[in-house]
Amino acid sequence: MDTIKQTLNTLVSQCLTEVTGQNNLQGHVITASRPEFGDYQANGVMAVAKQAKRNPRELAQEVVAVLQARQHELIDKFEIAGPGFINIHLANSALLRRANTALSDPDELIGVIDTPQTIVVDYSSPNLAKEMHVGHLRGTIIGDSLVRVFEKLGHNIIRQNHVGDWGTQFGMLITYMRELRDSADDKPSQLKDLETFYRAAKERFDADPEFATTARKSVVHLQSGDPEYVKAWEQFIDESLSHCEAVYNKLKITLTRDDLDAESRYNDDLAPIVDELRSKGLLSESEGALCVFLPEFVGKEGEPLPVIIQKSDGGYLYATTDLAAIKMRSEQFAAQRSLYVVDARQSLHFQQVFAVAKAAEMARESLSLEHIAYGTMMDKSGRPFKTRSGDTVKLDELLDEAVRRAFDLVTEKNPDLDEEARKSIAQVVGIGAVKYADLSKNRTSDYIFDWSTMLSFEGNTAPYLLYAYARIKSVLRKQNAEHTSLCIVALDAPEERQLLIKTLQLAEIVRAVGEDCFPNQLCNYLFELSGTFMRFYESCPILKAEPDVQQSRLALAALTAETLQQGLNLLGIETLERM
Ligand code: ARG
Repeated sequence: MDTIKQTLNTLVSQCLTEVTGQNNLQGHVITASRPEFGDYQANGVMAVAKQAKRNPRELAQEVVAVLQARQHELIDKFEIAGPGFINIHLANSALLRRANTALSDPDELIGVIDTPQTIVVDYSSPNLAKEMHVGHLRGTIIGDSLVRVFEKLGHNIIRQNHVGDWGTQFGMLITYMRELRDSADDKPSQLKDLETFYRAAKERFDADPEFATTARKSVVHLQSGDPEYVKAWEQFIDESLSHCEAVYNKLKITLTRDDLDAESRYNDDLAPIVDELRSKGLLSESEGALCVFLPEFVGKEGEPLPVIIQKSDGGYLYATTDLAAIKMRSEQFAAQRSLYVVDARQSLHFQQVFAVAKAAEMARESLSLEHIAYGTMMDKSGRPFKTRSGDTVKLDELLDEAVRRAFDLVTEKNPDLDEEARKSIAQVVGIGAVKYADLSKNRTSDYIFDWSTMLSFEGNTAPYLLYAYARIKSVLRKQNAEHTSLCIVALDAPEERQLLIKTLQLAEIVRAVGEDCFPNQLCNYLFELSGTFMRFYESCPILKAEPDVQQSRLALAALTAETLQQGLNLLGIETLERM
């Protein structure tokens, strides 16, 4: 089923066409900016009038006449305002019908879209040489929320975890591994802490030229497929992936090993990529390296900027692998969209890779390549987030700290609850707080990671929303209204009507997130929804109301809870029945 906004948009656009005789006109229907403007407003008339050199108010009158003649079930009345805005008031009967449909079948609350697409989402994608650190947090959280949104809308999603598992670092790591272990089969126990392992290997590498030479040779052995080296490398990768999985589990991230699209997979495709670029006449040599120069990439003085494809020593680059990956995503997956949820600092890389892929026809014309960029995670003083000693913060430890802090918070609020219950609440609140704090900010800005704001029960935070949800559930429980099939019948109070319309708008917000990939819209919506519920709860008594009004208000509360839960789940946040 179309959302309210889609239905209205189609309707107004059709009427504009009928009145003007022109096709492809936009109704531009938006949620009314103020209650006195009705429920929705159509702003499209002004632009059409301007183009047709007509008086906008007159045109609006003609459009409204046609709209009225159609007698759409969703609409109660229209008004013309200002220079030609059309204010739309929705019909209570249609609102009730939609809400009750969603109440009896929760899948209808969001619904699926008519034209599902195949969408590749590249996210998380850590380098496996080290443990996941805070630099991977945002991409992992944002990417996972986006795939949940796309899947809910009915799209076909291909997750790609483009982990870095190839290159010179791995020569150093497996050489060190081979030094530490006793037999070919066992793994050195030092691998339990990859961070320390990496540092120790690096120290060896820097201090001992012989070790460094062996390490460099190991890369060659590995790349030519020598079984002994491949085995050590596989052991290392397996161990490193287990570290990632531990983090994914804690964060409830939906990535599995099936979603891996490791860099190593493209090893054999890199030379053919170079050949293909050459045969298409795109390759030139610059200081010994093979590069692509495209007219759109120039430096400050107008000098051409290269996209380096192969270094003078024969080594390939990050861009080369990404070209091979694009080719695969375009040819084998036949995707319509390919998204890269990656740090904004890689934006030039993606602009270049996308441009080369299009120029070389390695990506179909119709494939939309999109860098879903996000800003850096900062500490409270506005510096990149680090430990006190200046090291990167391990994600695993950060998440444990979140749960620990949430436990203290829950204990402070609810000292009488038994410890097990407090622990499981803390799990949801701690992880939810970390995710929500990130998702609720516009992803393109840098983002300040601050424990006290994210764990506050006030403001646009996870604890606030989780608490709002739990409170509604407790109201329903007390009235034994949790599992009965209730029906909304009364919409007399304005707060009832506003709340009902608000719940139906989840579908619109989720579609918007599915298009432009900004989950903060969903967070803002859920925060507003909780506020709308609070106003309803304060002004529309449930207990003291007549039985049928009471039932109706309980039903509205149940619909609100359902809406909150579905919204939070799309952000990857679990809900709690009690808090
Ligand atoms: N491994 C890279 C990093 O940690 C991110 C990879 C992103 N995906 C891609 N297809 N380039 O910076």
